[in-house]
Amino acid sequence: MKCILRILLLTCTLCFIEAVSFNHDFSLFTDKCILDGSKESKNEVSVTVSGRICLPWNSFQNRNHSFSNCYHNYCRNPDKRIQPWCIVRRRNRYVREYCDITDREIKPSNPPKSDPSKQDRESSCGERHLNRITKIIGGSRSMVESQPWIAAIFKGDGLICGGTLIAPCWVLTAAHCFPGGKKTQIKRYSVFLGKNAINETDSIKEQQFNVSKLVVHEGFDYTTENFNNDIALLKIVDSNGKCAVKTNSVRTACIPPFQQMLPTGFYCEIAGYGRHQKGGFEYSRYLKQAQVRLVSQNDCQNKYYSKDEVNKNVLCAAGRDWEEDACQGDSGGPLVCEVNNTMFLFGIISWGKECSKKFNPGVYTKVTNYNNWISMHTGLPKYTVGSRYPQKD
Ligand SMILES: *[C@@H]1O[C@H](CO)[C@@H](O)[C@H](O)[C@H]1NC(C)=O
Ligand SMILES: *[C@@H]1O[C@H](CO)[C@@H](O)[C@H](O)[C@H]1NC(C)=O
Ligand SMILES: *[C@@H]1O[C@H](CO)[C@@H](O)[C@H](O)[C@H]1NC(C)=O
Ligand SMILES: *[C@@H]1O[C@H](CO)[C@@H](O)[C@H](O)[C@H]1NC(C)=O
Repeated sequence: MKCILRILLLTCTLCFIEAVSFNHDFSLFTDKCILDGSKESKNEVSVTVSGRICLPWNSFQNRNHSFSNCYHNYCRNPDKRIQPWCIVRRRNRYVREYCDITDREIKPSNPPKSDPSKQDRESSCGERHLNRITKIIGGSRSMVESQPWIAAIFKGDGLICGGTLIAPCWVLTAAHCFPGGKKTQIKRYSVFLGKNAINETDSIKEQQFNVSKLVVHEGFDYTTENFNNDIALLKIVDSNGKCAVKTNSVRTACIPPFQQMLPTGFYCEIAGYGRHQKGGFEYSRYLKQAQVRLVSQNDCQNKYYSKDEVNKNVLCAAGRDWEEDACQGDSGGPLVCEVNNTMFLFGIISWGKECSKKFNPGVYTKVTNYNNWISMHTGLPKYTVGSRYPQKD
């Protein structure tokens, strides 16, 4: 008994145990976002001592409280605790945790410059700097490092879709993002990598590109309901004629081998900026990620949808208790799954019926049916064979 208590005490010093409750005296918060960090230091921290990423302050389940206007996820200390804190999701609960600010003072104010000649290679895809076990060095880190392959595709000033960086010059996305098909005027499009929030610019983390080529799958038909072959490629180029440079916020995801499958129930991650979100995240412009589980093809075709809707070129995945699905992402964005510590792009967010509705899993383009197509159009066979995927004995 004593022992258990001691462990509990230790845990207590690391994080608050209580789930966030709304009976707290939040009277010191007005309905303005007084937590907003405009006057705080540039080196914002949004990671807790346990390595979890802070949720934006407005993302409680109960929205009738004074954080509802706070859209950022930086650590704050509004109620004078021993150090800044934020809210994270642990299992199924929202809890507070103290933030990892120990290195904040000693870390250099300018992050190390990336070597411009450095590019991700097929042998280094799918890696992310974020590691939940090791201690975070440098403190300031936010969500994009956990999905560094995510691309934000803009038409003019508006975000239209997400995408995934699969090679330094290539972003994979959904065909339905380009209703004009081959006639699409690529001049109007731009692609951002390393972006934490849609309406914010972080010139150190972000990389901006124009689109030099768009390939929409020949077999995609915008008029059919099933969105068959919902896949497209964008070739990106920056103002110096260069492609993506490898940094902690910009990395490539690996393509798994042709026809590679994962078992039903396998946990994967989806991400996006929430363009099409309903409900709580509607106004949030921050990068979000959610965990989803793969649903069996048979169930998806027969229980949830029909064979006409769900064919062999898609896979289905659903959030836990149907709470989170592609609604939290953008069309075209990644569904990545971790195999041997490496992240592989198995799906492209395609469609779903009514966000997070019970028995309507999200439907994703099955990337492993398109290895040859990607290879043919990018001319990058090495990136498309899945050489990082563990070999079967
Ligand atoms: C929500 O806030 C309003 C006004 O601020 C208050 O009148 C109402 O009782 C609150 N509802 C709940 C469930 O707390
Ligand atoms: C980003 O959008 C949010 C919500 O719409 C807003 O509160 C915030 O001020 C915006 N940030 C910038 C830099 O415009
Ligand atoms: C995109 O193209 C426009 C004109 O075509 C140019 O002015 C701009 O610098 C380019 N941006 C990037 C990031 O390459
Ligand atoms: C797993 O990854 C490590 C390093 O990335 C590699 O050395 C090892 O061969 C991989 N394991 C398998 C089974 O492929």
